[in-house]
Amino acid sequence: MLSFQKLLRADQINKGDLVKLFNRADIYKDKLSKSEKITDLDGKILASLFFEPSTRTRLSFETAMHRLGGKVITVEDGSSSSTKKGETLEDTGRVIDQYADIIVMRHPKPYSVEEFSKYVTNPVINAGDGDNEHPTQSLVDSYTIYSEKGSLENLKVGFLGDLKYGRTVHSLVNILSKYNASFKFISSEYLALPDKLKTVAKNNSNSFQEYQTVNAEILEDLDVLYVTRVQRERFDNQDDYIKNKDVCYLDKKYISAKNNSIILHPLPRVDEMDKFIDELPNAKYFEQVGYSVPIRMSLLYSLVNL
Ligand code: CP
Repeated sequence: MLSFQKLLRADQINKGDLVKLFNRADIYKDKLSKSEKITDLDGKILASLFFEPSTRTRLSFETAMHRLGGKVITVEDGSSSSTKKGETLEDTGRVIDQYADIIVMRHPKPYSVEEFSKYVTNPVINAGDGDNEHPTQSLVDSYTIYSEKGSLENLKVGFLGDLKYGRTVHSLVNILSKYNASFKFISSEYLALPDKLKTVAKNNSNSFQEYQTVNAEILEDLDVLYVTRVQRERFDNQDDYIKNKDVCYLDKKYISAKNNSIILHPLPRVDEMDKFIDELPNAKYFEQVGYSVPIRMSLLYSLVNL
């Protein structure tokens, strides 16, 4: 049993929840690797509502539901639903609640999924609300770290890129702050982590340092380096975008032989990192995608069966 019925923010996920979710994800990972048929959500329906573009989150949730033996209903694109005609999220919630056993939703407006969820009795999952949070990406990320490093405790974690608008960063800082982490936040001054997350990052014996440049020395002693895209769509002025993006570029020369950290990225990536980094054994971002299906299966099963 999880401590939440609707997953809207990463701070709702406690350590006990993570143990349960990871244990079940391990079972699903094993069954998937043996191509075993799974029927745990036979007869159940997931509604997939995306009002913003997505490749990974949408397809991995839909894959997860199909792999569990359930079915998926969706709109081709959120803008083709009746919200386009002016229907409120409140009414949309009341309606879809009667079709589906669980709803996953992405929306460009911060806190809109939380607002929508007030009118829904079934479980709701936030698949990204603007620049606020992306709690299930933090499940994917923490499950990847746990699987690759063996534990989430006492890790040195570097975040590089857009820490201001990066919702995956916000959610992962929330999760790792429960595990006595030491953080390095590396970004331009403009894209620095918001103050409220710095407060989270220094609570519970965590510590953090901030850097406005990236180099080999800063990255050398990390256990995890988490790279994010500087998001062009968040800037009004393209010159500002380029200036901020260049500060955050990850060159292969910064990853020395001594560097033992795994390198993660929630993807999509554009040009924020040297393509040659893909060849390094510690580049784990495509493995990270692989972990997303079993952990989302685990979440769907656990919420539908609360
Ligand atoms: N990581 C992630 O949220 O990717 P998508 O935008 O493709 O879903």
